[in-house]
Amino acid sequence: MVSADRPDHPVMLANRYERLVQSVVDYAIYMLDTTGRVVSWNPGAERIKGYRAEEVVGKHFSLFFTPEDCLDGRPERLLKQALEQGVAQDEGWRVRKDGTRFWALAALDVIRDEQGQVIGLAKVTRDITDRRESALQLDAVRAQLFQAQKLEALGQLTGGLAHDFNNLLTIIINSARMAKESQDPVRLRRMMEHILDAGQRGTELTKQLLTFARHRKLEVTQIAPAELLGATRGLLEHALPREIVLEEHLQPDLPLIDVDVGQLQMVLLNLLFNARDAIEGQGTIRLAVSAVELAGEVEGLCGAYVCFAVGDSGPGIEAKVLPRIFEPFFTTKPFGKGTGLGLSQAYGFAKQSNGAINVQSEMGKGTCMRLYLPACRHNSDGQLDG
Ligand SMILES: Nc1ncnc2c1ncn2[C@@H]1O[C@H](COP(=O)(O)OP(=O)(O)OP(=O)(O)O)[C@@H](O)[C@H]1O
Ligand SMILES: [Mg+2]
Repeated sequence: MVSADRPDHPVMLANRYERLVQSVVDYAIYMLDTTGRVVSWNPGAERIKGYRAEEVVGKHFSLFFTPEDCLDGRPERLLKQALEQGVAQDEGWRVRKDGTRFWALAALDVIRDEQGQVIGLAKVTRDITDRRESALQLDAVRAQLFQAQKLEALGQLTGGLAHDFNNLLTIIINSARMAKESQDPVRLRRMMEHILDAGQRGTELTKQLLTFARHRKLEVTQIAPAELLGATRGLLEHALPREIVLEEHLQPDLPLIDVDVGQLQMVLLNLLFNARDAIEGQGTIRLAVSAVELAGEVEGLCGAYVCFAVGDSGPGIEAKVLPRIFEPFFTTKPFGKGTGLGLSQAYGFAKQSNGAINVQSEMGKGTCMRLYLPACRHNSDGQLDG
């Protein structure tokens, strides 16, 4: 026979559970009957909601909800859901006895007897107002920071643009004025050339901006990466000093890509020039093209891609500079050496081509920029290496 003073006797167990519930002050733990009336109350419930046991036992639990939620039938809905599904969870405003509100995280679970009959519900509520407020504050700070960064980028963009166009307009206006006053046909011709040249540079600048804004229409053709690199090499030869070695690694049998060839060339040149500018004296630039299968690791891209990687043995990019390199007009180069448009253009191009560009950089070791472009679905049939 089991003695009633044994610790595992049902009476002793019930006592211990009662003591456990009664010692909890951080959670409101109480029971409801199947119609939603309060059956029991613990010190946590009293602390959080402000009612003493004798004030609430027998009352409907909708007492703790806001008038709006009561009108909306929220307490009944929760009760119904718990009775039908065994459990219901909720997060929202609740009202204390003194009328003040707190943000509650609540769970309702059905309680059954040995025969499986529902005899009531266990209700556990936590006051998470502080947690919610700090989360909201953090969100607000983040939003402010984002807004500030956006404004700074916008300021930089307009400032840079105004500056560059102003330079070009100064050239145009001065040349036109001089041309107007000059009788010398040779001088006149030179002035006209200056005007044309400045106009042309203005057009290039708008083109770059439009690529960044992704408003420029791409002229897409199908091309083998090897063929494209062949053409780019010609452009590069004159641009790299002798101290810099260019290594090329081209994986055989690369798939074809659908791409605006002219723009891709521009982007690759921009990446190569950035690598060249980063290297002081001797160094190596490594251009590697490979086929990769992505599964979301690069900006959520999935499927077959061709990766153009431009790595350099330069000094790497400082941590405070790194998050800004894709911003338009962000440059660390001296006046006249860089406009800060190269990478923003590369970024816009990658996005518009349904690809991505990312950067990996380590101080003292160098930088690697990787451009991912989607591979064509059909196979190259061995026509690639021509
Ligand atoms: N390979 C690299 N190594 C070190 N820093 C780099 C590298 N690539 C880019 N950067 C940094 O990113 C900045 C922005 O590059 P981006 O190509 O957009 O502009 P830029 O080269 O300064 O000017 P532009 O390309 O318009 O002539 C650079 O000024 C430089 O500070
Ligand atoms: Mg550049």
